[in-house]
Amino acid sequence: MIEKGAPIAEPKGKLGVLLVGMGAVTTTFIAGVEAIKKGLAKPIGSLTQMGTIRLGKRTEGRSPLIKDFVPLAGLEDLVFGTWDIFEENAYEAAMHAGVLEKELLLQLKPQLSKVKPMPAVFDQEYVKRLHGTHVKKGKTKMDLAEQLMADIAEFKKKNKCSRMVMVWCASTEVFIKQHAVHKTLASFEKAMKENHKAIAPSMIYAYAALKSGVGFANGAPNLTVDIPAITELAEKQNLPLCGKDFKTGQTLMKTLIAPGLKARMLGLHGWYSTNILGNRDGEVLDDPGSFKTKEESKLSVLEHILQPEVYPDLYTDFSHIVRINYYPPRGDNKEGWDNIDIFGWLGYPMQIKIDFLCRDSILAAPIVLDLALFMDLAQRTGMRGIQEWLSFYFKSPMCAPQLYPEHDLFIQLMKLKNTLRHLRGEELITHLGLEYYD
Ligand SMILES: NC(=O)c1ccc[n+]([C@@H]2O[C@H](COP(=O)([O-])OP(=O)(O)OC[C@H]3O[C@@H](n4cnc5c(N)ncnc54)[C@H](O)[C@@H]3O)[C@@H](O)[C@H]2O)c1
Repeated sequence: MIEKGAPIAEPKGKLGVLLVGMGAVTTTFIAGVEAIKKGLAKPIGSLTQMGTIRLGKRTEGRSPLIKDFVPLAGLEDLVFGTWDIFEENAYEAAMHAGVLEKELLLQLKPQLSKVKPMPAVFDQEYVKRLHGTHVKKGKTKMDLAEQLMADIAEFKKKNKCSRMVMVWCASTEVFIKQHAVHKTLASFEKAMKENHKAIAPSMIYAYAALKSGVGFANGAPNLTVDIPAITELAEKQNLPLCGKDFKTGQTLMKTLIAPGLKARMLGLHGWYSTNILGNRDGEVLDDPGSFKTKEESKLSVLEHILQPEVYPDLYTDFSHIVRINYYPPRGDNKEGWDNIDIFGWLGYPMQIKIDFLCRDSILAAPIVLDLALFMDLAQRTGMRGIQEWLSFYFKSPMCAPQLYPEHDLFIQLMKLKNTLRHLRGEELITHLGLEYYD
């Protein structure tokens, strides 16, 4: 465990933010950072940029901004590197994604046009709905990993980066279960050389990142880093890992509301969630293989928050259904409906309806920023392996094998902030507060 108040290296020089996939999320993130740097917009939704952290007693009035409390890279020090299966630059890809207004993108055209994706490691076996044209060739999966490592080294040199982090923002791959080859680093490397089909492209990126001294965050529900071989590599390399699947939209709402129902001991008969979504992510998720990966990630949330084994009278056998329908007219502006059948005193039934007209990538972009900055902080602090304190950002948070994941957004936030207090040698906040009444 990292010691309380352990030294943290200063964030000197450029931080390379390597983004796999340059679609809606990546371009909304990069364009957002450029817009904020130009003073055209504010970093709404970003805890690292807008959040504060209370220190000491409430009477002390100490609540600095998080970015003033822990040494984080500044936005002006970020440089972006990307890979995609299409050749469009970030300006063209952002126009294509249709999330941000054309007028804003035009103002950022010089900066965005400079971000050109490197050829991807891609195999249609794993994302059925896409046909890539800007793709690396290699005899084995290990060859491909080596090509990625060469890209990373070249990017670092060219952009004079002192540190780098990688965030997976590419498409959702088909559902893959853990396989024997994922058990150890040795078996994983052997499988890469033998082109084993249990090694998905996302795993090749994660492997290349860690081998290159770069921590990895997984924004999609892919298995990618949730395997012992990759955890072993991260620990060996003294690098942080986190994932998976950015917590935005409907699942964000779920992890806001479910803890509230449980806090008041209200029961649940069922939770039906359906979405219409018209962006490329929606198109990829229209394939049953990719949807299965997403569904698994979305379904796990309620069981863990509500704990039916602890509260059998309230949460036994509730039905939980999640649907995603690809509906092109909506583009990135998803609509998510929830029908929640709850029950209260004496078992009387009630219903809650939520209609969330959200913007997926607008919710995801600040998460990418926070993860890049916090992963860099973790790297400079020597925090290695799974970073459970970053659960706050994920639908299916990674945790140690002997634990269950913590899904409650408010516990996740407390965990994150207490980790920052611990790193800076401050007392943890327990919210006891009895001492104010002595
Ligand atoms: N937007 C959200 O709120 C949100 C929330 C949770 C998770 N996610 C996940 O984040 C990812 C990105 O979402 P998006 O809306 O930007 O999707 P998108 O389809 O707009 O972008 C994904 C990009 O990845 C590229 N790609 C696919 N496979 C690749 C590979 N092997 N290497 C390099 N590039 C590759 C695609 O060509 C595409 O440009 C998806 O997996 C999505 O499920 C998004």
